[in-house]
Amino acid sequence: MSHDPRVATKRDFLKFTDLSLDEHLGLFRRAAELKKARRHRRVVRTMAGRTLVMIFEKASTRTRLSFEAAMLQLGGSCIDLSAQNSQMSRGEPLADTARVTGRYCDVVMMRTFGDARIEEFAQHCQVPVINGLTDGGHPVQVLTDLFTIEEKLGPVKGKTLAFIGDTASNMGRSFTRAASLFDFQLRCASPVSYHPAPDVVATSKNHVQLLRDPKEAAKGADVIITDVWTSMGQEAESKQRLADLNGYQVNAELMKLAAPHAIFLHCLPAHREEEVTAEVIDGKQSVVWDEAENRLHVQKALLEYLVLENEKLNT
Ligand code: CP
Ligand code: NVA
Repeated sequence: MSHDPRVATKRDFLKFTDLSLDEHLGLFRRAAELKKARRHRRVVRTMAGRTLVMIFEKASTRTRLSFEAAMLQLGGSCIDLSAQNSQMSRGEPLADTARVTGRYCDVVMMRTFGDARIEEFAQHCQVPVINGLTDGGHPVQVLTDLFTIEEKLGPVKGKTLAFIGDTASNMGRSFTRAASLFDFQLRCASPVSYHPAPDVVATSKNHVQLLRDPKEAAKGADVIITDVWTSMGQEAESKQRLADLNGYQVNAELMKLAAPHAIFLHCLPAHREEEVTAEVIDGKQSVVWDEAENRLHVQKALLEYLVLENEKLNT
């Protein structure tokens, strides 16, 4: 909700609860249509005349490429505001940056550290703000992962997903937050101190099981998921994390315990032979390249939805 008096109301996508289940499923249907349109070289120009501003305070390859390509392919334009070269790096208040940014564009995608920072930005920005990853979540990636699961295995409702490794990571937290809404069972296998915090688990309404044994988590699962053991911003802890998470690697032996049709997901970037073996990530059950491509299609659907809804709400 913006504090700008000229803005009646607006929708952001900072976390899963910002949209209803019906809205999420609508995004999946639209993403599938947009994927097909691209395959058939049909041009869609629903974002013509609109501008996306991207703000990155952490590194990125996929998020930067997929959001920019999405906007350009939909006929819109895109500005990458490098946080380091902007007045943000010289201490301009975040709220002022947000107020000004919203005057130039139709939607903002931000990647930053604390969740409070993106929430503050969204509060003062009069156009929709999309979470492109924070310490507390990576909802556009998990939304894409759920779309990918539906594409490969059918409805995610009722499926069993096993997340192995650092389940307190932004990916683990977003999967936990999505579990009740999409009605899937999530098994989180980690050492106890790497499980998502109780307030995050509470949002899952008994859809999440916290386990220590990766084998127990993998047994019969439809989907096996992992993420890096050291996320951006945690580099100083990397040696300790490597030692603590040793034993939580996704390897062929673990994959054998999953259902025969099981798929392997990783948001990337990956560290082969650390959280996952090359044999698994480059193997037959891995769908990581389709998963990465799907960021483009899902984010197109999300951009369209938020921008066009916002225009409807404010005309
Ligand atoms: N998965 C993901 O968000 O990748 P990037 O960090 O490269 O954007
Ligand atoms: N958990 C990882 C995800 C990268 C896309 C990180 O935050 O670095």
